[in-house]
Amino acid sequence: MTLDLDFVRSQFPAFREPSLAGFAHFENAGGSYAAAQTVAWLDRYYRQTRVQPYYAFSASARAGEQMDAARSRLAAWLNAGADEVQFGPSTSQNTYVLAQALRRHLAPGDEIIVTNQDHEANVGAYARLADDGLVVREWKVNPVTAELERKGLEALLGPRTKLVAFTHCSNVVGSINAVREFADLAHRAGAWAFVDGVAFAPHGLPDVQELGVDAYCFSLYKVYGPHLGALFLRRELNAALPNQGHFFNDGLPGKRFTPAGPDHAQIAAVNGVADYLDAVADHHGLHGKPSAERAAGVRSLFRAHETALLQPLLDFLVQHPKVRLIGRTRAGDRAPTVAFTVKGQSSAAVASALADAGIGAGVGNFYAYRLVKALGIDPDDGAVRVSFVHYTSKYEVDRLQQELTRCLN
Ligand SMILES: Cc1ncc(COP(=O)(O)O)c(C=O)c1O
Repeated sequence: MTLDLDFVRSQFPAFREPSLAGFAHFENAGGSYAAAQTVAWLDRYYRQTRVQPYYAFSASARAGEQMDAARSRLAAWLNAGADEVQFGPSTSQNTYVLAQALRRHLAPGDEIIVTNQDHEANVGAYARLADDGLVVREWKVNPVTAELERKGLEALLGPRTKLVAFTHCSNVVGSINAVREFADLAHRAGAWAFVDGVAFAPHGLPDVQELGVDAYCFSLYKVYGPHLGALFLRRELNAALPNQGHFFNDGLPGKRFTPAGPDHAQIAAVNGVADYLDAVADHHGLHGKPSAERAAGVRSLFRAHETALLQPLLDFLVQHPKVRLIGRTRAGDRAPTVAFTVKGQSSAAVASALADAGIGAGVGNFYAYRLVKALGIDPDDGAVRVSFVHYTSKYEVDRLQQELTRCLN
């Protein structure tokens, strides 16, 4: 079974939007197009149920039901319980709130491991706990390969390690890390594994049980949905950490890590992500299968399409004499988030030449400041990043390659 790209693209209004005609979107790691289902949910919510939710009157009751449905449907796609999903304004905010909970839970001298491969959202909030007497250790990438290696983590784990925060997939390197292996190592040392899945989730929502993680965060605005952060927090961990919400909501798992009132419409619109993923699953013969099987099926459909498009692009970049490609050269080992620098040209100049040709590429350090520095790249200019997802066509990747050929000469 291969991905039906015409079907997929028919689900995204952006591909029929006149103002985007001729534009090729290669900054998906920054934000994906929204599925039609997401747009429809937001529109419907604002028209029909834009009232305070969870009261008895009809519009209010329906608003609450839609928000509850969003939580349980997303949980099913992650193979989690509905009480294990939290929503916040963004991943950065969710990790900040988690760090505040840890600040009160951990004791001076306890140890936390962060990486220098991560986006700052999964580093800074925890690293700041050093101000409260916690010992923060940095698991560093191999500066040549940009990889996080098992031995690096083993050397840092100790009897007082309480947390290892690392990424499922770097938003610059693109490598898909061995999450299960690293989480198991953390657990064996008595520590939790908190994983940033922001750069992985657009390529197929993960099975959090299979990954064996304690917390897993991602951003729905990169997963065809509304601008929200989603956080899987294992039930036992939620109960063990101090409540960050209003004191009288302490008994409500879904409110304990959302100190600000959540955005009701955006939560309801998470149903749009579930509707879209359901549509893809059903269209590809996964109708009636258990949810974990549907999620695995959609993941492999997405991955197979992306990998087939990615390999020729990697081959082109690897052989180009002026290009320094960051990360692995085999498409099967990484996400289609491809960062590189160009000898003799600033990254900003390359991205701007691509923009002139109707190609949207990213440029900068992508808030993976520590990583970019560790790789010997000026964090102010950073790298060029071209990132795509399952709705990208071969035509678009070929066009990108042609424009790169032109811009890099
Ligand atoms: C890998 C990664 N982690 C975390 C974040 C932060 O997400 P948010 O914008 O939802 O705070 C980003 C945002 O680009 C990211 O790429």
